[in-house]
Amino acid sequence: MTELTPKVIRTATLQEFKVKRQKFSCLTSYDSLTAGIFDEAGIEVLLVGDSAADNALGYETTLPITLEEMIPFGRAVARAAKRALVVIDMPFGSYEASADQALANAVKIMKLTGAGAVKLEGGLRSVAQIRSLTMAGIPVMGHIGFTPQSIHSLGGAKVQGRGEGAEQLLEDARAVQAAGAFAVVLELVPALLAKQVTDELLIPTVGIGAGAGTDAQILVWTDFAGLYPGKPRKFVKKYANLRETLLEAAGTYRTEVLEGKFPTVENSHE
Ligand code: KIV
Repeated sequence: MTELTPKVIRTATLQEFKVKRQKFSCLTSYDSLTAGIFDEAGIEVLLVGDSAADNALGYETTLPITLEEMIPFGRAVARAAKRALVVIDMPFGSYEASADQALANAVKIMKLTGAGAVKLEGGLRSVAQIRSLTMAGIPVMGHIGFTPQSIHSLGGAKVQGRGEGAEQLLEDARAVQAAGAFAVVLELVPALLAKQVTDELLIPTVGIGAGAGTDAQILVWTDFAGLYPGKPRKFVKKYANLRETLLEAAGTYRTEVLEGKFPTVENSHE
């Protein structure tokens, strides 16, 4: 089968990928430099995740980040992406109260960032919000399974959908699709169940910790690039070891400054 290589990725392109059984890749990004690099590498979807909370702002969880804090991250990524579809997370507290609240804040995100879509967490519980946004012309990516904004009620970052939870997960997936979402993230879901959801749904599934059977994969960029010390979580693969590279570079720079080896004549103006 010939691979689709579109010039620009839109939500409709992801749908075409699904029909063609062509997988696609997604990464998070929170700044224009990484967004530009990932875009140039061909990553199809850049998610300005609320994981910016713990990966860029130093919060413990995703809960504290606000809509106002998300906007500059979204703007930076949307400015840099020439091809990828940019999706922005609706942060905790910006959409749960009502469909009207969700719509007002999603409109703000779309107006102020230039992104192509938003993402929000929750299956059945978020149906009214997803419907309201999609009716207003705002593409929505759903997010079910482990939903980090509910970390306290879920009792930690645990796999969802085991045993009797499988039926609930399937219902969430069907509800998100019926409400009009163009894709859905499945986070920390048993691989077989994720495959079953993927086979049943007409919209693409994007897995993280959900095995190889989903239509797409997403990783948090700081995980995939190896910015954290130690062994990564089971579902993460380190594709680079930027922490070691940066540590070494910073150490060498410091030594050269202390020893008067930097700057040299080449680094100096006459
Ligand atoms: O915020 C985020 O990075 C996410 C991904 C883990 C899917 O929601």
